[in-house]
Amino acid sequence: MRSRPSAGRLGSALVEQQESRPSVRVERRAVDEAESRRANGPDWDVYADEYQSTHGEFLGDVGFIWGPEGCTEEQYALLGESSQLSGQDILEVGCGAAQCSRWLAARGARAIGLDLSHRQLQHSRRIDEASGVAVPVVTGTATHLPFPDDSFDAVFSSFGALQFVSDIERAIAETHRVLRPGGRFAFSITHPTRWMFPDDPSEEGLVASQSYWDRTPYVEVDDETGRVAYVEHHRTLGDWVSLLASGGFRIERLEEPEWPEGHERIWGGWSHIRGKYTPGTAIFLATA
Ligand SMILES: C[S@@+](CC[C@H](N)C(=O)[O-])C[C@H]1O[C@@H](n2cnc3c(N)ncnc32)[C@H](O)[C@@H]1O
Repeated sequence: MRSRPSAGRLGSALVEQQESRPSVRVERRAVDEAESRRANGPDWDVYADEYQSTHGEFLGDVGFIWGPEGCTEEQYALLGESSQLSGQDILEVGCGAAQCSRWLAARGARAIGLDLSHRQLQHSRRIDEASGVAVPVVTGTATHLPFPDDSFDAVFSSFGALQFVSDIERAIAETHRVLRPGGRFAFSITHPTRWMFPDDPSEEGLVASQSYWDRTPYVEVDDETGRVAYVEHHRTLGDWVSLLASGGFRIERLEEPEWPEGHERIWGGWSHIRGKYTPGTAIFLATA
């Protein structure tokens, strides 16, 4: 299943509608870390312009949204109360155009963004200039964070890298390494239960058709070249608990945002139709 909150779909019909991207076929198969990165970096480079033009206004140039439900950091305060953010060193992994980091910077945090996609980071520079709130960003991957040990008070990711990496143990170990003792790690992902359903925002997307326990990655293969063009990795809720615990984290919160009354925006497979019945986003908070 293609679950990223993107142009929106799971399934071949919608894959074909995305003109900027190559024609692909969908498979479930094992994909390692190197292949995941080789596919997803260029994929996000191609898709970045469309992503920002479709979702940029909803995200807000200086806004911190945790998922398609529109829930905000202002509401959840997972990284601490707004008044306590000033002076905190905070890393955003899979930052895209770094809207969330900009929201933190506007509250006095020393936020920095990291992303695999150069094009996403060019959008970040564009928004820095337009908004007057600038955040430093760096190209990189969640599995090799280019920072010394104990660099940050918090690391977070809003639908960023975590469901795109194969070597999730390494990504979690890297996060733990760069966090100071007691530092916060907060991240949102597609709610693991969503992997049972087709990525369809209509009623059709409410009929379970795939095993929740099948961790075989969702893969799109370029029809012309046969190369893997896009990958997402699935872990169950139990997997996340075990990963965080064995990575040295203590789990503090798991938020499952309810679909807000009157919110009718469709984002990929996320919609009020499905949001009324099933959670679409899971947000973890853990401490190092
Ligand atoms: C759904 S977007 C979310 C971006 C941003 N957090 C937002 O809310 O708009 C996912 C981002 O993760 C990035 N990404 C994918 N794999 C990554 C990896 N291994 N390391 C770092 N970033 C990655 C993509 O390039 C993309 O910008």
